Amino acid sequence: MKKDFLSILDLSAKEILYILALAKKLKLELKVKGSNDRLLASRTLVMIFEKPSLRTRLSFEVGMAQLGGHAVYLAPSDIGIGDRESVSDIAKIASTMGNIIMARTYKHDTVLEFAQNSLTPVINGLSDLEHPCQILADLLTISEIKGKFKGLKLAFLGDGENNVTHSLALASSLLGINFSVASPNGFQMKREIKDMASKISSVSGSTLIETKDPGEAVEGADVVYTDTWVSMGDETEKQERLEIFKPYQVTAKLMKLTKPDAIFMHDLPAYRGNEVVAEVIDGSQSVVVQQAENRLHVQKALIIHLLAAQEQSS
Ligand code: CP
Ligand code: NVA
Repeated sequence: MKKDFLSILDLSAKEILYILALAKKLKLELKVKGSNDRLLASRTLVMIFEKPSLRTRLSFEVGMAQLGGHAVYLAPSDIGIGDRESVSDIAKIASTMGNIIMARTYKHDTVLEFAQNSLTPVINGLSDLEHPCQILADLLTISEIKGKFKGLKLAFLGDGENNVTHSLALASSLLGINFSVASPNGFQMKREIKDMASKISSVSGSTLIETKDPGEAVEGADVVYTDTWVSMGDETEKQERLEIFKPYQVTAKLMKLTKPDAIFMHDLPAYRGNEVVAEVIDGSQSVVVQQAENRLHVQKALIIHLLAAQEQSS
């Protein structure tokens, strides 16, 4: 078991399935009893943010409270990462006082540096390369609705060179989901991620297809997924991106090419009229609220898993 959760590949398929099962148990317990057992009493999570957040902050903070622990939120302006204070000093200090760290950073290298300098586990709460916590919630949602992973077709439309796309491609390969991504020229997945996902697919028996044609990607899909065309950090390219990505908008017409029981997913925040039309994201096939709620349940399971692994190894 790895100390940190920086990439979705830091968990094996077996560990992912264990975390999903634990998340389901915690979700049910919360709904039936109104509370969870205080499994993380006297534990503290330190949350370090270089970027804004709604879901990630809420779910980690509420999750720690529900398990009897505590979370400390450090806003982008609080610590001045790499400016007022070096990443290595922040990591060392946070890990002497907290039991676990979650960091949302611009560069993936920053989250790696946090992990290298922290004695306690570090969770990637989104970097420019991956968004693994989001993908755990997405997998829980798919599992609740479809009851399986192997053989499903997941189509992603829009920005391929994107944290959510990368983690989705890797997770799909690991769990045997057929992954198709439609993106314009110059916005395909990073080479290293594509190569790694292809290698893992060949073992799990799934397919990984990159295309420029949104129709080809969504044909017969069980899940259609999109994300913002302008990720945090890409704001200077906004106008150019809004033009380039126009043909990749998820529309009701495109959804007609999928399986009749296909679902629509989005990690949020969403920009209606850009990557998806309101009719789809607010329509009956959309599961985006369930997806967001599931951040809470998977993250609680993830923290329990990482802290248990840490205790076993010390
Ligand atoms: N999906 C997601 O990570 O949302 P936030 O940016 O609001 O945390
Ligand atoms: N790709 C998006 C995800 C937001 C949760 C971003 O990085 O801004």
